Amino acid sequence: MKLLNVDLADRSYPISIGGGLLDDASSFKAAIRHPRVIVVTNTTVAPLYLERLKNTLSGFCSVCQCILPDGEKYKTLDSFNQALTAMLENSLGRDSTVLALGGGVVGDIAGFAASAYQRGVDFVQVPTTLLAQVDSSVGGKTGVNHRLGKNMIGAFYQPRAVIIDTDCLQTLPARELSAGLAEVIKYGIIWDADLFACLEASMSDLLKLDGEKLEQVISRCCAIKAEVVHQDEREGGVRALLNLGHTFGHAIENHMGYGVWLHGEAVAAGTVMASAIARMRGHIGQEEFQRIVRLHQAASLPVSPPENMTADDFLSLMRHDKKVKAGAIRYVIPTSIGSAEVFSDVTRDEVEQSIGKPENE
Ligand code: NAD
Ligand code: GLY
Repeated sequence: MKLLNVDLADRSYPISIGGGLLDDASSFKAAIRHPRVIVVTNTTVAPLYLERLKNTLSGFCSVCQCILPDGEKYKTLDSFNQALTAMLENSLGRDSTVLALGGGVVGDIAGFAASAYQRGVDFVQVPTTLLAQVDSSVGGKTGVNHRLGKNMIGAFYQPRAVIIDTDCLQTLPARELSAGLAEVIKYGIIWDADLFACLEASMSDLLKLDGEKLEQVISRCCAIKAEVVHQDEREGGVRALLNLGHTFGHAIENHMGYGVWLHGEAVAAGTVMASAIARMRGHIGQEEFQRIVRLHQAASLPVSPPENMTADDFLSLMRHDKKVKAGAIRYVIPTSIGSAEVFSDVTRDEVEQSIGKPENE
């Protein structure tokens, strides 16, 4: 097992990573300081892992549950309300813990509910998708979507612990694994050229769910995320780099209807668009651009946006993005493989040109 720490002074918390942690009471005992727990999960994850988790917890706390419908399209205020209602119906007090068992959708809704219930109760993340294990469970961004924009309603609310059982990935559909790899590749591009090279060498092992490789890569991604969140919890600076591909990606998700393109798929196409702009501006060369395209293709990810999306579709949707500042859309653009910066001067023409299919498709 690997143990990392998110250093946020008195709100610091551990990230435990390893196979079989769902059955290991000790990580949960350390994280849960009250006798009552509500597990928030969904209709897909509950039959796979809920009973096992309840078994692990039953030795030292009482457990109730809230099972939400599955899907990005249910990442809504209605689901948030459903979680709060379950807490009230179970007469939970402030001395309770909300435990999110599932992917990023469950984690974001459950964390937001934990932040709001009686002005905030303890929260523990048990992420079960690759995307949630490397990204959404760490760093305290919680929330739900609005018809007019993704993740528009929410709160920064840090968990007390993140417990990652890498064995849960064995049941993850291949398409979801690939979607998670988009966020893994993101860390390589914005932060860590060695990680990028390691992914080029080991993508086929990761797709085969090689346990050792997965633990190594998940740990590296969590360590990067922990460092970024330590430096900039509220996204005043460096944390914005984690949004590589997301400004374009959120526009794709919204345009297509939430859930039609997976979040990671939209981020992948968005990352290639941002990389195309980096190549046009001379930040990266053709060879680096092709490496980025090839790595996404090796992970079975899309490398161009939906055919029916125009530059104007992107621009009108991106104006609703949370990253807009003083009316200007802020784009994360790679400056090499291993670094990126935020730019506000990207033109309509550049967006238009970034939409085209990369040449080696
Ligand atoms: P998801 O939560 O929808 O999970 C994907 C699918 O896999 C769902 O059908 C889910 O039920 C299923 N699933 C989960 N674990 C499984 C398992 N072990 N075996 C089989 N099936 C399993 O999607 P996601 O990709 O995990 O998360 C995407 C969401 O995360 C988006 O809403 C995105 O906005 C959010 N996100 C948040 C942050 C953050 O910092 N809070 C960061 C990145 C993404
Ligand atoms: N996934 C982006 C962030 O956590 O900041």
